Amino acid sequence: MYTLENIKLKNTLLGLSLATVALLTSGCNNNDVKMANTTNVKAEQRAVDGGMIYPTVDGKYTLYSVNTQEKKGFTYGRTPTKTEIAAWNIDVMPDGTGAPMYDTKHGKVVLEDGEPKKAEGSVAWGNELYDAQCVMCHGDFGAGGKGGYPALSGGDIKSLTNQLQNPADDIPTEVPPMKRIGSYWPYASTLFWYIQDSMPFPHPKSLTNSETYALTAYLLYENGVKINGEDLDEDFVMDREKLMAVKMPNEKGFYPVVDTPENPKQGVQNVKNFLSDLSNVGTGTRCMTDCIKGEVPVLRIKNEMNNFHPAPSTQRSLPPVEEESGAVHPGFAGYEASCSACHSNEAIGAPVVGNKEAWANVIEKGIDSVYHNGINGINAMPPKGGNMDLSDDQVKIIIDYMIEASK
Ligand code: HEC
Ligand code: HEC
Repeated sequence: MYTLENIKLKNTLLGLSLATVALLTSGCNNNDVKMANTTNVKAEQRAVDGGMIYPTVDGKYTLYSVNTQEKKGFTYGRTPTKTEIAAWNIDVMPDGTGAPMYDTKHGKVVLEDGEPKKAEGSVAWGNELYDAQCVMCHGDFGAGGKGGYPALSGGDIKSLTNQLQNPADDIPTEVPPMKRIGSYWPYASTLFWYIQDSMPFPHPKSLTNSETYALTAYLLYENGVKINGEDLDEDFVMDREKLMAVKMPNEKGFYPVVDTPENPKQGVQNVKNFLSDLSNVGTGTRCMTDCIKGEVPVLRIKNEMNNFHPAPSTQRSLPPVEEESGAVHPGFAGYEASCSACHSNEAIGAPVVGNKEAWANVIEKGIDSVYHNGINGINAMPPKGGNMDLSDDQVKIIIDYMIEASK
């Protein structure tokens, strides 16, 4: 995401020794031509990535800040700052590495009444956050969204066994493998990490550590995962210590075992042993051509998974749909389902519903343009808010609601 900035190149070249310049001009003519071309790029147009030039406004291209930092020397990137490294170095490991104790902001521990603020969040709070920021893609209770957004609950370990021992073609009636958090993921730390790193999709890294613990707790609850043998309930509060106490049902379901922290070399040895036993892979004989004779070979992976059926979530009934009465705008439900995630949040740059001024500015250009932009998208606003199941007319009704609610 950092700019490969060649704007200053000419000046830089002048500063280099003659020998270097000679080397450069003889060795990479093509590059020189490309670089020379970019020297007349205006300061407000910088590359966001690769060689593409996008117009930037106030240092931003849509949601992305463009790196306009001046650099010295040869301008192929630059050394990242400590804060930048810290911002990316947020992996969370099963042994607890990276699982935060406290809430942090810009790399610093947040203080509350002078004390470090403990990072923790309950299932109930996670449920609220989920309904506000995740449900529009991942579906109610994590059941999965339209358009292939992944389900976050409802796995079934038996289905994984089916996949490994019976190719799907053999038994078309068999349930397809359901690699869900509860049935597949070996460690709960990955869930915290994944959410913190990349979700919600439209604005990753926006959740606090406490919010991430709450969402982790909620999703484990939806997956029927226990902690110390106990089911989670709405009041359960997740923190670093409890996250470490979670044993995922499928932890031992991977074969060969590569993760052997007490003896890392053992993991490598396990893989070697596994692969050197030809009966574990393919037809069981080494082969380069015409290997598949008659039957499709079955991948014979042993698996020793326990039987785990989470998915209490999928059986639960959805909340009753609110009856449409005269008092509720016909666009309201659609707005809640497909638009509110972005349009209730100042930080995303979307005109917030209820903000008179923001919407007065939107409507100024005429309602037809506004409809057009809502349907076809504009800048960081995806076409139809990303829900392509909506008809043009439905989007218009939702926009009418947004305008109505912002008067
Ligand atoms: C705009 C749609 C969208 C929203 C909103 C969203 N996600 Fe996602 N999520 C995705 C997509 C797409 C993927 C798959 C990404 C991939 O596979 O590269 C995903 C993947 C995931 C996964 C991994 C699933 C798996 O089994 O691999 C988790 C966990 C997750 N999201 C949690 C959340 C949480 C928690 C929130 C709310 C804070 C959230 N998501 C909000 C679109 C979304
Ligand atoms: C992923 C986030 C996101 C979602 C979801 C989303 N919007 Fe937007 N929307 C934006 C952003 C960002 C803008 C501001 C775009 C700009 O002006 O640069 C915007 C702007 C708009 C505008 C103003 C366009 C204009 O002419 O200025 C309308 C109307 C709109 N959205 C309608 C909707 C509707 C209807 C939905 C749901 C069906 C929706 N949006 C869902 C992010 C989103």
